[in-house]
Amino acid sequence: MDKDAFIAGLPKAELHMHIEGSLEPELMFALAERNGVALPYANVEALRAAYSFSRLQDFLDIYYQGAAVLRAEADFRDLALAYFKRAAADNVRHAEIFFDPQTHTARGLPFAVAAEGLLAGMAEAERELGVTSKLILCFLRHLPEADAFETLAQAEPWLDRIAGVGLDSSELGHPPAAFARVFARAGELGLKRVAHAGEEGPPAYVEEALDLLHIDRLDHGNRSLEDDRLVERLARSGMTLTVCPLSNLKLCVVDDVARHPIARMLRLGLRATVNSDDPAYFGGYVNANYRAVAPLLTREEMVALARNSFTGSFLAPDAVARHLAEVEAYATAWV
Ligand code: ADE
Ligand code: ZN
Repeated sequence: MDKDAFIAGLPKAELHMHIEGSLEPELMFALAERNGVALPYANVEALRAAYSFSRLQDFLDIYYQGAAVLRAEADFRDLALAYFKRAAADNVRHAEIFFDPQTHTARGLPFAVAAEGLLAGMAEAERELGVTSKLILCFLRHLPEADAFETLAQAEPWLDRIAGVGLDSSELGHPPAAFARVFARAGELGLKRVAHAGEEGPPAYVEEALDLLHIDRLDHGNRSLEDDRLVERLARSGMTLTVCPLSNLKLCVVDDVARHPIARMLRLGLRATVNSDDPAYFGGYVNANYRAVAPLLTREEMVALARNSFTGSFLAPDAVARHLAEVEAYATAWV
């Protein structure tokens, strides 16, 4: 079987993708020029050469710096559309994208600029490319919970167009427990809840995300594997894990993609999915992530990953069922 061709045509959803992390160097330079923002790199090649990370924080420093070129609604719309074109080319049928409003409001942009720009790009992607999407607002965990509450208040006029809240940025030293109250408030507002946990942080952070944030989905979750009881709990509850192989490699969460735990996760009964995280920084969009781990997986396991991407989405059950039927038809046609 030609695994690459199989992956290319496999219908899939993407559930873990930071839109600011899809800012390709070429677009970053174009927006810097459009907005008169100075970048501390001579050109695209020099910028790309700086994408060498030994931990999450190395990446975050460059990622927040890059986001500074986003100034107007049209910039966010262009950013979103550029991502959706790459996603559509990878046969992504549905994407649930993260954005970090605090990165932009801290620079003086009103919440509306990022929100309206992204929502415009999402609507256009659905119309022009047939890719549906949902928006997830992430709180930056290196900032105090009070700032997250302020962000949630700013989001109020858009809550009918925001599917959920997430928790991202520097994990170590910033446990989920610090955000229990704002996540409780988000739950009262009818929002879904997800959180990055167990990327660099210990299994105890995953437990806090479950017990104190009441998450509907776990982002990364790699270090859950260090705790058998936690693995059993995640498997039993049918929790979806949004796993990001190339990100794990680039941020040294794994030392070799050939030893990535995705196969082990599936074989332990975990509902894992494959995602790109920050594709412009980590060397590939979602299909590149599938291809990176394909040597570790059977064809049936790759189908399971695609199936999990839809069952783990926040789509309505009828839409999930339609997508699952397409996955099954595709898999059957390849036999
Ligand atoms: N923000 C963007 N990508 C992230 C990641 N992989 N972990 C935490 N915060 C992030
Ligand atoms: Zn992430």
